Amino acid sequence: MTLRLSNLTVFVLNSPSSAVVAQRLESQGAVTVVGEASSFLNDANPARFALAVIPGDVASAMVEQVIDHASEWGIPVDDQRGQDVDQQFRGGQGIVTLVGGGPGHPDLITIAGARALAEADVILTDHLGPYSLAEEAARNGAEIIDVSKLPYGKQVAQERTNAMLVEKATMGKNVVRLKGGDSFIFGRGYEEWAELAAAGIPVRVIPGVTSATSAPAVAGFSLTHRGLNHDVTLVSGHVPPGNPKSTTNWEALAQMTGSLILIMAVKNAAAIAEVLMETKGGRAPSTPVAIVESASMSEQRVTTCDLGELAEVVEREGVKPPAIFVIGEAAGKRMELA
Ligand SMILES: C[S@@+](CC[C@H](N)C(=O)[O-])C[C@H]1O[C@@H](n2cnc3c(N)ncnc32)[C@H](O)[C@@H]1O
Repeated sequence: MTLRLSNLTVFVLNSPSSAVVAQRLESQGAVTVVGEASSFLNDANPARFALAVIPGDVASAMVEQVIDHASEWGIPVDDQRGQDVDQQFRGGQGIVTLVGGGPGHPDLITIAGARALAEADVILTDHLGPYSLAEEAARNGAEIIDVSKLPYGKQVAQERTNAMLVEKATMGKNVVRLKGGDSFIFGRGYEEWAELAAAGIPVRVIPGVTSATSAPAVAGFSLTHRGLNHDVTLVSGHVPPGNPKSTTNWEALAQMTGSLILIMAVKNAAAIAEVLMETKGGRAPSTPVAIVESASMSEQRVTTCDLGELAEVVEREGVKPPAIFVIGEAAGKRMELA
C-alpha cells in the first residue's frame, strides 16, 4: 500500500481500530479525519488526500464520494476496499473488543457492537447474547470459538478463555469477545480486560444492554413506579444464602422495600425466598414476583406468582436459566404488550 503522508489528509473511515489507526497516522505527520468525510469534501475544497482505511461494507457511499473526487481532481488513490487494512495499520498488533450483546435478540445489540462483530477475524462467544450474529460473521469468514460456561453443562475455564484472547490478539487478529447483556454485569469483563492489559494488548469496550433491566422491560414490567418504590437492587443468586462464600447481606435485602432483581438464581430461588420472608421485618409472602426466562428470544416465558409460592412455582413450571426474577411491588404491575 502506498501512503503519501506529508501534507495529506487521510481519511480513516469507521472501523474498530479507527482510533488506533488515526493515532498512528498522526504520529507520521498526516492530518487524519476519523469518520465523517462528507463535510470536508466539496468542489470548493479540492484537498489532496489519500484513503487510509476502507473497511468492508461500511460507509460505502462515503467511500464512493471520496473516490469520485479523487479521480475528478487527478489524485492517485489506493483503493483498499476488501483488504484487512486495519491489521496493516495496527502493524500486526491485534486488538480485542469486549462487546456486550444484549439479552439475546439480535436487534438488541448496539450498532457499534453489531459492526464490531461484522468486522471481526475471531469471535469468542458464550451461549448467551445474539449468537446468530456470530454465526453470520462466521459465514463471512470469521472464526468462532465457543467458550460457554453453561450452568450444569459445558464449562470452559476462564483462564483458558483469557489465554485464547491473548493468543489470537498476539497473532494480530481483530478479536471480539461477545458476552450476553453487558460485559461488566457478572460478565467477567474486568478479568479479561486485566489479562489483556497485562499482555500489552489494546482493548476496546462496547457496552451492552444488560438482561437485568431489559428482561423485565421486554416482558412488560417497569422496575420503578413513581410513588411505589425508590430503589432497585441487582443481586446474583448463584451462591445461596448462608453459604460461607456468599458476600450478600440477604437479611438487609429482605428489609428493603424496592425492586430486587435476581440474576443466576434459578437453583437457589427457594432458599432466597425463604430468607427474604423469614428475616425479621422482611418481605411479606404476598410480595409479587415476576420470572422472565429467555427474555427477547422466541422461547421467552413469563411467570408471575407471590413470594410465598415461589419455590413451588419454580419447581412446578420447570423454570430454567437464563432467567431474571423481579421481587417487589413493581412486579405486581405488568403492562399487557400488544
Ligand atoms: C453470567 S450472567 C451474565 C449476565 C449478563 N452479563 C447481563 O448483563 O445480562 C447470566 C445470567 O444472566 C441472566 N440472563 C442473561 N440473558 C438472559 C435472558 N435473555 N433472559 C433472562 N435472563 C437472562 C440470567 O440470570 C443468566 O443466568
